[in-house]
Amino acid sequence: MFAALRNRTITVETHELRVARGVFDPVSQLSGEAFARALPDVLDELDIGHQRVLDLGTGAGLLAAIMIDLGAEVTATDIDPRATRCARHNLGPEADVRLGDLFEPVIGERFDLIVANPPYEIGAGDPRYTSPDLLERLALEWPSYGDHLLLGHPADDEPTLAELGFDLHRVRVIPTSGDALGLYVGGLR
Ligand SMILES: C[S@@+](CC[C@H](N)C(=O)[O-])C[C@H]1O[C@@H](n2cnc3c(N)ncnc32)[C@H](O)[C@@H]1O
Repeated sequence: MFAALRNRTITVETHELRVARGVFDPVSQLSGEAFARALPDVLDELDIGHQRVLDLGTGAGLLAAIMIDLGAEVTATDIDPRATRCARHNLGPEADVRLGDLFEPVIGERFDLIVANPPYEIGAGDPRYTSPDLLERLALEWPSYGDHLLLGHPADDEPTLAELGFDLHRVRVIPTSGDALGLYVGGLR
């Protein structure tokens, strides 16, 4: 289990965040922390605009916190009210945190960049780790909401992303003590 079993505090770069009980813990799970640490470099290297950013499935808000550091105006969403409460606590008034499924909280809006470290597993179960159709819907819908997508997903699972309809380029393979994390970008010209 990778969600916090009790409230704990994590530190990543300059950010000290509370991870409330039941919310995805990006440090013990590793992928969230790896994504967060790589994020500034990837955006810089690929010269991806990031003035208006959506952090989709924000959890405790780590990716949103990094984007705020980079000067972005951040909207952060999650389907789990424990996560949105936790992210609001961690991000304060600097981010607009909203509750809801996928793009439902931001219908009609558009972002320069969508960052997402969504559940990897496909199936029924705990939405922190698994979803029947989130990846499939994300593949279909993200171009209506953003110019670029930066997606975290296991590095060796590129074929699944293609099968789901994504047109993405893997730009990083980040070793962790578990599965290597891939960072995949959509919207590159
Ligand atoms: C793997 S965790 C990543 C959390 C955070 N982005 C991080 O990297 O630490 C996935 C997050 O997506 C959220 N989520 C799952 N299904 C969702 C959906 N349909 N719409 C929005 N958020 C969803 C979960 O509640 C969880 O907080």
